[in-house]
Amino acid sequence: MKNIDYKSEIQRLKKEKNAVILAHYYQEDDVQDVADFLGDSLNLSQTAVSTDADIIVFCGVHFMAETAKILSPNKKVLLPVMNADCLMAQTITKKDLQKYKDEHPDTKIITYVNTTAEIKALSDCICTSTNGLKIIEHYLDQGEKILYTPDQNLGKYAMKISGKQFEVWNGCCPIHHFLDKRKVLKQKELHPDALIIAHPECQLDILEISDYVGSTAQLLSFVKKSEAKEFIVCTEKGVLHPMKTQNPDKTFYLGSPTLSCHDMKKTRLEDVYNCLLNETNEIFVDEEVSRKAVKALNTMLELSK
Ligand code: 13P
Ligand code: SF4
Repeated sequence: MKNIDYKSEIQRLKKEKNAVILAHYYQEDDVQDVADFLGDSLNLSQTAVSTDADIIVFCGVHFMAETAKILSPNKKVLLPVMNADCLMAQTITKKDLQKYKDEHPDTKIITYVNTTAEIKALSDCICTSTNGLKIIEHYLDQGEKILYTPDQNLGKYAMKISGKQFEVWNGCCPIHHFLDKRKVLKQKELHPDALIIAHPECQLDILEISDYVGSTAQLLSFVKKSEAKEFIVCTEKGVLHPMKTQNPDKTFYLGSPTLSCHDMKKTRLEDVYNCLLNETNEIFVDEEVSRKAVKALNTMLELSK
């Protein structure tokens, strides 16, 4: 077998094909290192709109590449590993959401970005963990009845922060949802000066003992600004790579060794190279679904300005 230097070959192919590589913070370290843009789901959606590249190679999970395609229909969007899926996206079906809508025609549907295009198409507005609280509060302030789908944890956290009640779907991300509080407290016992920082997909018992709660991008920015030197990180372990690179003087402990997303870790450099070389694993979205989903996504982009 030929010995391929994937890093330099990827750089060469990117130039040759006017391609751009977007990667989520949960990707493997070496995949993050070949990315032109590294970000959370909101940054990456915004970058998909603003880039003038002809090809977007999306190193993440399926819904992320699909979102990029909906927002940039004229670009070729490739997903290096086609079966890299988000477990949370599987916690809500089109049939169930349609049934809810039929029974509650006056309720606004606010949907987390970690969902399929079909679910987005049935929603009034999309949100991410970066803008979720702001978007939910916007609808509540207008006196709207809302259903937040599918992440029960971000939903319950938003109810706690806003002091207002609304309906929440019962989906979750198993990686964050099943984070064991005892494991986090054990880390705190071992590192008493460390601040606990958590993603809002964790359950309230974790969020309540956290010093800061935010999306991956918000956690990174908090760590950078903080005077603390040690952090217990309660989100997927991939985020430790940029945290360590950006803060060489600070120390990070993962809240639990279970914080690893199998699907995010499926992508290897070899997959990025192959899909760029052969332009395989292209993402397509049904036109009618895309037309409805883009409306909900654009409402989010407008409200998060
Ligand atoms: P972010 O919105 O923070 O990027 O999170 C995406 C995600 O998949 C969290 O599990
Ligand atoms: Fe989905 Fe959870 Fe993986 Fe994020 S960490 S991509 S929410 S399964």
